[in-house]
Amino acid sequence: MKFFADTADTKEIAELASYGLIDGVTTNPSLIAKAGKPFAEVIAEICALTPGAVSAEVVATDFDGMMKEGKKLAKIAPNVAVKLPLTLDGLKACKALTGEGIQVNVTLCFSANQALLAAKAGATFISPFIGRLDDIHIDGMDLIAEIRQIYDNYLFDTEILAASIRSPNHVKLAALAGADVMTAPAAVIRSLVNHPLTDKGLETFLADAKKAGIKV
Ligand code: E4P
Repeated sequence: MKFFADTADTKEIAELASYGLIDGVTTNPSLIAKAGKPFAEVIAEICALTPGAVSAEVVATDFDGMMKEGKKLAKIAPNVAVKLPLTLDGLKACKALTGEGIQVNVTLCFSANQALLAAKAGATFISPFIGRLDDIHIDGMDLIAEIRQIYDNYLFDTEILAASIRSPNHVKLAALAGADVMTAPAAVIRSLVNHPLTDKGLETFLADAKKAGIKV
């Protein structure tokens, strides 16, 4: 499973990259706004921190506008994945941009039929939003499982990017359901390492090593 960092904070991305823990980055306009720097500048900085796909989202909603913005974003770096909303114009732009060899992440997916459309439009990634479905009492993991089955039935190579991941349990369930990628905030990725028995075991080993005067 690939891990993407869902943040536009370059310090966080550099830290995760230093552990070898990330395979790419996703951003959205809300995350870019938090970064407080010009859009193209932040995306260029992020692209230099990881060789993996870096999603940068358009703000246009019509086909021509999305094509113009998508091509502009793709010129920032070869690893930019243009993020397009799951609308008819977004799907049309997806087909056209992927046809030109540009990676596309179709975002704001909340149903299996939407994911089917994105795969037919040639999307590189489809982003089902788990947490936002959970927010309205719908199990987001059922959606991942449905998309997995549909994509496997027809051998679509669009990658399922589990998005809006809010907890370590979301990560585990998305992996079990067969998501190709998950994107989560840095804090969630860091928290995956935590286990009280690991801390307790390490404490005991270190205490025993000290008592016995073990030096390596
Ligand atoms: C990913 O591409 C989305 O930007 C992100 O995961 C949304 O997460 P949220 O629902 O927690 O804002």
